[in-house]
Amino acid sequence: MPDRYAVIGNPISHSKSPQIHAEFALQTRQSLEYSRLLGDLTDFAGDVRRFFADAGRGLNVTVPFKVQAWALANERSPQAELAGAVNTLTQLPNGRLRGDNTDGAGLMRDLTHNHGFDVRGARVLLLGAGGAAQGVIQPLLAAGATQLVIANRTASKAVELAEKFAIAGAVNGCGLEALAGQQFDLIVNATSAGLTNAVPAIPNDCLNAGGWIYDMLYSDQCTAFQRWGLAHGAARALDGLGMLVEQAAESFWLWRGVRPETAPIITQLRGVAAAGSRG
Ligand code: ATR
Repeated sequence: MPDRYAVIGNPISHSKSPQIHAEFALQTRQSLEYSRLLGDLTDFAGDVRRFFADAGRGLNVTVPFKVQAWALANERSPQAELAGAVNTLTQLPNGRLRGDNTDGAGLMRDLTHNHGFDVRGARVLLLGAGGAAQGVIQPLLAAGATQLVIANRTASKAVELAEKFAIAGAVNGCGLEALAGQQFDLIVNATSAGLTNAVPAIPNDCLNAGGWIYDMLYSDQCTAFQRWGLAHGAARALDGLGMLVEQAAESFWLWRGVRPETAPIITQLRGVAAAGSRG
Protein backbone atom coordinates (compact mmCIF):
# COMPACT_ATOMS: atom_id res chain seq x y z
CA MET A 1 0.00 0.00 0.00
CA PRO A 2 1.40 3.46 -0.84
CA ASP A 3 2.18 5.80 2.08
CA ARG A 4 -0.82 8.00 2.96
CA TYR A 5 -0.72 11.79 3.16
CA ALA A 6 -3.48 14.42 3.10
CA VAL A 7 -4.31 18.09 3.48
CA ILE A 8 -6.88 18.94 6.14
CA GLY A 9 -8.87 22.20 6.23
CA ASN A 10 -12.42 23.56 6.16
CA PRO A 11 -13.34 24.33 3.43
CA ILE A 12 -10.98 22.07 1.48
CA SER A 13 -12.48 21.34 -1.94
CA HIS A 14 -10.50 24.21 -3.55
CA SER A 15 -7.12 22.91 -2.34
CA LYS A 16 -4.46 22.41 -4.98
CA SER A 17 -2.21 20.42 -2.63
CA PRO A 18 -3.26 16.95 -3.89
CA GLN A 19 -2.39 17.95 -7.46
CA ILE A 20 0.93 19.44 -6.37
CA HIS A 21 1.99 16.43 -4.29
CA ALA A 22 0.88 13.98 -6.98
CA GLU A 23 3.13 15.82 -9.43
CA PHE A 24 6.05 15.79 -6.93
CA ALA A 25 5.57 12.04 -6.34
CA LEU A 26 5.55 11.31 -10.06
CA GLN A 27 8.61 13.41 -10.66
CA THR A 28 10.66 11.89 -7.80
CA ARG A 29 9.26 8.35 -8.30
CA GLN A 30 7.87 8.15 -4.77
CA SER A 31 4.98 5.80 -4.07
CA LEU A 32 2.40 7.73 -2.08
CA GLU A 33 -1.23 8.79 -2.07
CA TYR A 34 -2.31 12.30 -1.09
CA SER A 35 -5.96 13.25 -0.51
CA ARG A 36 -8.17 16.07 0.82
CA LEU A 37 -9.76 15.83 4.28
CA LEU A 38 -12.63 18.09 5.28
CA GLY A 39 -11.80 18.80 8.94
CA ASP A 40 -14.58 18.81 11.54
CA LEU A 41 -14.70 22.34 12.97
CA THR A 42 -15.50 20.91 16.42
CA ASP A 43 -13.19 17.87 16.40
CA PHE A 44 -9.93 18.63 14.62
CA ALA A 45 -7.94 16.61 17.17
CA GLY A 46 -10.15 13.55 16.54
CA ASP A 47 -9.70 13.83 12.78
CA VAL A 48 -5.92 13.99 13.16
CA ARG A 49 -5.86 11.06 15.59
CA ARG A 50 -7.95 8.89 13.26
CA PHE A 51 -5.84 9.77 10.21
CA PHE A 52 -2.59 8.74 11.88
CA ALA A 53 -4.16 5.66 13.52
CA ASP A 54 -5.22 4.58 10.02
CA ALA A 55 -1.62 4.41 8.71
CA GLY A 56 -1.38 8.13 7.79
CA ARG A 57 2.20 9.36 7.46
CA GLY A 58 1.84 13.13 7.17
CA LEU A 59 -0.76 15.90 7.09
CA ASN A 60 -0.70 19.37 5.65
CA VAL A 61 -2.90 21.70 7.67
CA THR A 62 -4.67 24.73 6.29
CA VAL A 63 -7.25 27.34 7.31
CA PRO A 64 -8.63 27.37 10.01
CA PHE A 65 -6.67 24.65 11.84
CA LYS A 66 -3.03 25.82 11.84
CA VAL A 67 -3.06 27.07 15.42
CA GLN A 68 -4.84 23.93 16.67
CA ALA A 69 -2.24 21.83 14.86
CA TRP A 70 0.47 23.77 16.69
CA ALA A 71 -1.17 22.90 20.01
CA LEU A 72 -1.57 19.22 19.05
CA ALA A 73 2.06 18.68 18.04
CA ASN A 74 4.17 16.87 20.66
CA GLU A 75 7.28 18.58 19.33
CA ARG A 76 7.82 21.51 16.97
CA SER A 77 10.51 22.89 14.68
CA PRO A 78 11.92 26.31 15.63
CA GLN A 79 10.03 27.81 12.65
CA ALA A 80 6.72 26.38 13.88
CA GLU A 81 7.45 27.46 17.42
CA LEU A 82 8.03 31.06 16.34
CA ALA A 83 5.14 31.14 13.90
CA GLY A 84 2.68 29.86 16.52
CA ALA A 85 1.12 27.84 13.70
CA VAL A 86 1.76 24.45 12.08
CA ASN A 87 1.06 23.55 8.43
CA THR A 88 2.85 20.18 8.38
CA LEU A 89 2.29 17.29 10.80
CA THR A 90 4.44 14.19 10.68
CA GLN A 91 4.10 11.04 12.74
CA LEU A 92 7.54 10.05 14.02
CA PRO A 93 8.57 6.38 14.36
CA ASN A 94 7.98 6.61 18.13
CA GLY A 95 4.37 7.71 17.50
CA ARG A 96 4.88 11.33 18.53
CA LEU A 97 3.55 14.10 16.27
CA ARG A 98 6.04 16.64 14.94
CA GLY A 99 4.79 20.07 13.82
CA ASP A 100 6.57 22.16 11.18
CA ASN A 101 5.76 25.40 9.46
CA THR A 102 6.95 25.62 5.86
CA ASP A 103 4.99 28.76 4.88
CA GLY A 104 7.86 31.15 5.67
CA ALA A 105 10.37 29.07 3.71
CA GLY A 106 7.85 28.90 0.86
CA LEU A 107 7.48 32.67 0.66
CA MET A 108 11.22 33.28 0.84
CA ARG A 109 12.03 30.65 -1.78
CA ASP A 110 9.45 32.08 -4.22
CA LEU A 111 10.39 35.69 -3.63
CA THR A 112 14.15 35.31 -3.69
CA HIS A 113 14.97 32.16 -5.68
CA ASN A 114 12.13 32.13 -8.24
CA HIS A 115 11.83 35.89 -8.70
CA GLY A 116 15.20 37.29 -7.61
CA PHE A 117 14.13 39.84 -5.00
CA ASP A 118 16.99 40.71 -2.63
CA VAL A 119 15.60 41.21 0.86
CA ARG A 120 18.97 42.34 2.24
CA GLY A 121 18.77 46.00 3.14
CA ALA A 122 15.10 46.28 2.17
CA ARG A 123 12.44 48.19 4.05
CA VAL A 124 9.54 45.75 4.23
CA LEU A 125 5.88 46.35 5.06
CA LEU A 126 3.89 43.32 6.18
CA LEU A 127 0.12 43.80 6.07
CA GLY A 128 -1.92 41.73 8.51
CA ALA A 129 -1.36 40.22 11.93
CA GLY A 130 -3.06 36.81 11.72
CA GLY A 131 -1.51 33.37 11.32
CA ALA A 132 -0.40 34.03 7.74
CA ALA A 133 1.56 37.13 8.76
CA GLN A 134 3.06 35.55 11.85
CA GLY A 135 4.63 32.71 9.84
CA VAL A 136 6.73 35.00 7.64
CA ILE A 137 8.10 37.57 10.11
CA GLN A 138 11.16 35.66 11.26
CA PRO A 139 12.12 34.49 7.71
CA LEU A 140 11.90 38.09 6.41
CA LEU A 141 14.10 39.32 9.24
CA ALA A 142 16.54 36.43 8.86
CA ALA A 143 16.85 37.25 5.14
CA GLY A 144 18.23 40.67 6.09
CA ALA A 145 15.36 43.18 5.92
CA THR A 146 16.70 46.32 7.59
CA GLN A 147 13.29 47.37 8.78
CA LEU A 148 10.05 45.44 9.07
CA VAL A 149 6.82 47.29 9.74
CA ILE A 150 3.79 45.16 10.57
CA ALA A 151 0.60 47.12 9.89
CA ASN A 152 -2.86 45.84 10.67
CA ARG A 153 -6.44 47.13 10.55
CA THR A 154 -6.60 46.38 14.28
CA ALA A 155 -3.41 48.16 15.35
CA SER A 156 -3.07 46.45 18.74
CA LYS A 157 -2.53 43.03 17.12
CA ALA A 158 0.33 44.39 14.99
CA VAL A 159 1.93 46.05 18.00
CA GLU A 160 1.73 42.80 19.98
CA LEU A 161 3.29 40.80 17.13
CA ALA A 162 6.10 43.32 16.72
CA GLU A 163 6.88 43.09 20.43
CA LYS A 164 7.02 39.31 20.20
CA PHE A 165 9.58 39.44 17.36
CA ALA A 166 11.56 42.50 18.50
CA ILE A 167 14.44 40.28 19.64
CA ALA A 168 14.88 39.02 16.05
CA GLY A 169 15.43 42.44 14.42
CA ALA A 170 14.06 45.93 13.77
CA VAL A 171 10.30 45.39 13.90
CA ASN A 172 7.53 47.91 14.51
CA GLY A 173 3.80 47.42 14.68
CA CYS A 174 1.10 49.97 13.85
CA GLY A 175 -2.34 50.60 12.38
CA LEU A 176 -2.82 51.16 8.64
CA GLU A 177 -3.36 54.92 9.04
CA ALA A 178 0.05 55.29 10.72
CA LEU A 179 1.72 54.37 7.41
CA ALA A 180 1.18 57.91 6.07
CA GLY A 181 4.52 59.34 4.93
CA GLN A 182 6.40 56.02 5.02
CA GLN A 183 7.81 54.24 1.96
CA PHE A 184 8.83 50.61 1.46
CA ASP A 185 10.80 48.47 -1.01
CA LEU A 186 8.53 45.46 -0.55
CA ILE A 187 4.93 45.16 0.63
CA VAL A 188 3.74 41.66 1.56
CA ASN A 189 -0.01 41.27 1.88
CA ALA A 190 -0.85 38.62 4.49
CA THR A 191 -4.40 39.83 5.13
CA SER A 192 -7.48 37.93 4.06
CA ALA A 193 -8.99 41.12 2.58
CA GLY A 194 -8.55 39.79 -0.96
CA LEU A 195 -10.92 36.90 -0.32
CA THR A 196 -13.68 39.49 -0.68
CA ASN A 197 -11.76 41.42 -3.36
CA ALA A 198 -10.90 44.14 -0.84
CA VAL A 199 -7.53 45.84 -0.36
CA PRO A 200 -6.21 47.01 3.03
CA ALA A 201 -6.66 50.79 3.36
CA ILE A 202 -3.03 51.88 2.99
CA PRO A 203 -1.74 55.20 1.62
CA ASN A 204 -1.35 55.31 -2.17
CA ASP A 205 2.27 56.43 -2.00
CA CYS A 206 3.80 53.88 0.36
CA LEU A 207 5.80 52.01 -2.28
CA ASN A 208 9.31 53.24 -3.17
CA ALA A 209 10.21 53.65 -6.84
CA GLY A 210 11.21 50.16 -8.04
CA GLY A 211 9.39 48.56 -5.10
CA TRP A 212 7.65 45.19 -5.28
CA ILE A 213 4.42 43.86 -3.85
CA TYR A 214 3.71 40.22 -2.94
CA ASP A 215 0.16 39.02 -2.31
CA MET A 216 -0.01 35.72 -0.42
CA LEU A 217 -3.33 35.03 -2.14
CA TYR A 218 -3.46 33.77 -5.70
CA SER A 219 -5.95 34.03 -8.47
CA ASP A 220 -6.34 33.13 -12.13
CA GLN A 221 -6.48 36.82 -12.86
CA CYS A 222 -4.63 39.49 -10.88
CA THR A 223 -5.62 39.60 -7.20
CA ALA A 224 -7.09 42.86 -5.88
CA PHE A 225 -3.77 43.66 -4.19
CA GLN A 226 -1.74 42.91 -7.32
CA ARG A 227 -3.99 45.38 -9.14
CA TRP A 228 -3.36 47.93 -6.36
CA GLY A 229 0.40 47.41 -6.73
CA LEU A 230 0.38 47.82 -10.49
CA ALA A 231 -1.77 50.97 -10.20
CA HIS A 232 0.65 52.46 -7.65
CA GLY A 233 4.00 51.97 -9.35
CA ALA A 234 5.09 48.46 -8.34
CA ALA A 235 7.99 47.19 -10.46
CA ARG A 236 6.70 43.64 -9.85
CA ALA A 237 3.35 42.51 -8.41
CA LEU A 238 3.42 38.81 -7.48
CA ASP A 239 0.68 36.50 -6.24
CA GLY A 240 1.04 33.60 -3.81
CA LEU A 241 0.85 30.64 -6.19
CA GLY A 242 4.62 30.17 -6.10
CA MET A 243 4.58 30.30 -2.29
CA LEU A 244 1.88 27.61 -2.24
CA VAL A 245 3.98 25.28 -4.38
CA GLU A 246 7.21 26.07 -2.52
CA GLN A 247 5.71 25.40 0.93
CA ALA A 248 4.43 22.08 -0.46
CA ALA A 249 7.90 21.21 -1.76
CA GLU A 250 9.34 21.95 1.67
CA SER A 251 6.78 19.61 3.30
CA PHE A 252 7.50 16.95 0.69
CA TRP A 253 11.19 17.20 1.48
CA LEU A 254 10.54 16.87 5.22
CA TRP A 255 8.45 13.74 4.63
CA ARG A 256 10.34 12.02 1.81
CA GLY A 257 13.88 13.39 2.02
CA VAL A 258 13.82 14.39 -1.68
CA ARG A 259 13.43 17.90 -3.05
CA PRO A 260 11.10 18.11 -6.07
CA GLU A 261 11.38 20.59 -8.94
CA THR A 262 8.76 23.30 -8.46
CA ALA A 263 8.89 25.22 -11.76
CA PRO A 264 6.93 22.66 -13.84
CA ILE A 265 3.96 22.55 -11.46
CA ILE A 266 3.92 26.34 -11.01
CA THR A 267 3.67 26.68 -14.79
CA GLN A 268 1.00 23.98 -14.96
CA LEU A 269 -1.13 25.58 -12.20
CA ARG A 270 -0.67 29.08 -13.60
CA GLY A 271 -3.08 28.13 -16.34
CA VAL A 272 -5.83 26.88 -14.06
CA ALA A 273 -5.49 28.68 -10.68
CA ALA A 274 -8.79 29.21 -8.88
CA ALA A 275 -9.80 32.76 -8.06
CA GLY A 276 -9.11 34.13 -4.59
CA SER A 277 -7.65 31.10 -2.82
CA ARG A 278 -5.02 30.46 -0.22
CA GLY A 279 -3.36 27.33 1.17
P1 ATR B 1 -4.96 34.17 8.60
O1 ATR B 1 -4.72 33.00 9.49
O2 ATR B 1 -5.22 33.82 7.18
O3 ATR B 1 -3.91 35.21 8.76
P2 ATR B 1 -6.75 35.66 10.31
O4 ATR B 1 -6.00 35.23 11.52
O5 ATR B 1 -8.24 35.66 10.33
O6 ATR B 1 -6.37 34.78 9.06
O7 ATR B 1 -6.21 37.12 9.93
C1 ATR B 1 -6.76 37.84 8.88
C2 ATR B 1 -5.97 39.15 8.75
O8 ATR B 1 -6.49 39.89 7.64
C3 ATR B 1 -6.08 40.06 9.96
O9 ATR B 1 -4.87 40.75 10.11
C4 ATR B 1 -7.23 41.01 9.55
O10 ATR B 1 -7.21 42.26 10.21
P3 ATR B 1 -7.88 42.42 11.69
O11 ATR B 1 -6.91 41.83 12.65
O12 ATR B 1 -8.08 43.86 11.85
O13 ATR B 1 -9.18 41.64 11.62
C5 ATR B 1 -6.90 41.19 8.10
N1 ATR B 1 -8.04 41.65 7.28
C6 ATR B 1 -9.13 40.94 6.91
N2 ATR B 1 -9.96 41.69 6.13
C7 ATR B 1 -9.36 42.89 5.99
C8 ATR B 1 -9.69 44.09 5.29
N3 ATR B 1 -10.80 44.20 4.56
N4 ATR B 1 -8.82 45.13 5.36
C9 ATR B 1 -7.69 45.04 6.08
N5 ATR B 1 -7.32 43.93 6.77
C10 ATR B 1 -8.13 42.87 6.72
